[in-house]
Amino acid sequence: MCGIIGIVGKDGVAERLVEGLRRLEYRGYDSAGVAAIHDGAIERRRAEGKLANLVKELESNPLPGTTGIAHTRWATHGAPTTSNAHPHATKEVALVHNGIIENFKALREELTARGRVFASETDTEVVAHLVSELVEQGASPRDAVAQVLPRLHGAFALAILFRGSPDMLIGARLGSPLVVGYGDGETYLGSDALALAPLTQRIAYLEEGDWVVITKDGAEIFDKDNAPVERPITISGVTGELISKGNHRHYMLKEIYEQPVVVAQTLRSYLRRMEDQVSLPVPDFDLGTIRRVTIVACGTSYYAGMVAKYWFEQLARVPADVDVASEFRYRAPVMEDGGLMIVISQSGETADTLAALRHARSEGQKIAAVVNVPTSTMAREADLLLPTHAGPEIGVASTKAFTCQLAVLAAFAANLARAKGRLDAKAEKELVRHLAEAPAALNAALAYDESIEAMAHLIAVARDVLYLGRGPDYPLALEGALKLKEISYIHAEGYAAGEMKHGPIALIDDKVPVIVLAPSGPLFEKTVSNMQEVQARGGKVVLISDYDGVQAAGEGCIATITMPKVHPLIAPMVYAVPVQLLAYHVAVAKGTDVDQPRNLAKSVTVE
Ligand code: F6R
Repeated sequence: MCGIIGIVGKDGVAERLVEGLRRLEYRGYDSAGVAAIHDGAIERRRAEGKLANLVKELESNPLPGTTGIAHTRWATHGAPTTSNAHPHATKEVALVHNGIIENFKALREELTARGRVFASETDTEVVAHLVSELVEQGASPRDAVAQVLPRLHGAFALAILFRGSPDMLIGARLGSPLVVGYGDGETYLGSDALALAPLTQRIAYLEEGDWVVITKDGAEIFDKDNAPVERPITISGVTGELISKGNHRHYMLKEIYEQPVVVAQTLRSYLRRMEDQVSLPVPDFDLGTIRRVTIVACGTSYYAGMVAKYWFEQLARVPADVDVASEFRYRAPVMEDGGLMIVISQSGETADTLAALRHARSEGQKIAAVVNVPTSTMAREADLLLPTHAGPEIGVASTKAFTCQLAVLAAFAANLARAKGRLDAKAEKELVRHLAEAPAALNAALAYDESIEAMAHLIAVARDVLYLGRGPDYPLALEGALKLKEISYIHAEGYAAGEMKHGPIALIDDKVPVIVLAPSGPLFEKTVSNMQEVQARGGKVVLISDYDGVQAAGEGCIATITMPKVHPLIAPMVYAVPVQLLAYHVAVAKGTDVDQPRNLAKSVTVE
């Protein structure tokens, strides 16, 4: 969740560390800090709140030095105050940490008993004291780190600075990602390649349990048993341009607008248009033997999984379960031979999803991973990697990753259907043609941006909003509600339209706008009946449908949003656009921080 970066460099590092933090702020923005060695001492600058506060602090109190570490925090232990901000330091050692040290209480008690005094409420500070204690007793930084790492339970990525070794940093990872960047006479540590994008493209990904000593001349990597290891250096391909806002006011808007291109990019690697066939990487297991699919994910990725359940069942006739990852392990799920787990994750690092993946693997399941970061932990641990090609998603609210996930999952469901003998060549051809229409349909949906902006004020005044949908558009209702609540802070709920009459309809009055997602198709009539039940009770409805749907049922609505008419298979992708744009414009109308909504972080690497 937190973002970390370290530089052993040639010139002053503070400015470049802050530049790196800018690219990591999506991982948390409760506080930020830097430490460097200056005049033989460790010095820190830290500030509560967004990075801009740290920048101000550095302007009035600059921090020279050629070796330094920096951190942007998503608070877990201890309030988001300056004293809890990283780096945490003693006279000898400063460090930044991403993850949770689960046994920190016992370690803190042990250290306190030995007379160590703590300056924060964080779990991280124990690591600084443990390492410092050994260094103070004469241990080398390497020996100190090697002795301390096995004592830490939980998850961590660490970057550690030593007063006595000013041209070196030590990094370590277990459960939280950490990369090494190789520059020209400089070496870097970072939570991801994105943080290091302006500095270098040459990246080595540390493996679980690895630790690393970096100097200007390069890196020495050790595995969990302290044996020297080589990790391949790859070219990250992440450029500064990919992670700029372009002409858009917010990353979220830029990413919404990128959808036609990135969905096309994604589909290109899963469809063979000449032959009108789906074409997926061939796994090292026989897809035809898969008897059950278990989909596990969190948040927006979970809603993509809910849509995919319909496809796996309808197209492949394979039973499919969908679970929220944080609940999965704890309900002792029954996993039989022939089961395939599909994890879906933009980041590929979400701790809940990763834990579910590992649990399923230990129960003998095959694992497929639909992830947007092909170098992520989930990507590396899966038997079958199905990348989405959405490019870096910076806005905290997920948008383009979702539509790309849907594109991959639809192709995968078709592939499974073919492997199961449920999809003949003619049906496959038709399906591929519908999928190939998605980018143009997404483009057409974006054309309604201005009309959505114009009606956003109707929603911005509401305290509660309901979203309704049926079939594969029901998860879209859930996604619409999630988008609205996370960026505009308006309470919103999504319901299966037919479920309203079983309780939630009691909420209806003229102050609760109800957004109805009802594309023309087999479920249109039934959804409209549920919508009319709402209207009959004074409910104010916004209908999102295509031209025919709006003509048939738009009367009496407070607003209608017209989408292009599309095949039901791609409707969930296309209808994602209006729900994203609506949430976006409502948030802008309310003046909330669209790209960095309160209390959230983009990459959730704690359970
Ligand atoms: C909502 C959102 C989150 C993520 C969730 C899973 O807009 O972004 O709900 O979808 O935290 O993250 P990933 O997909 O990285 O596993």
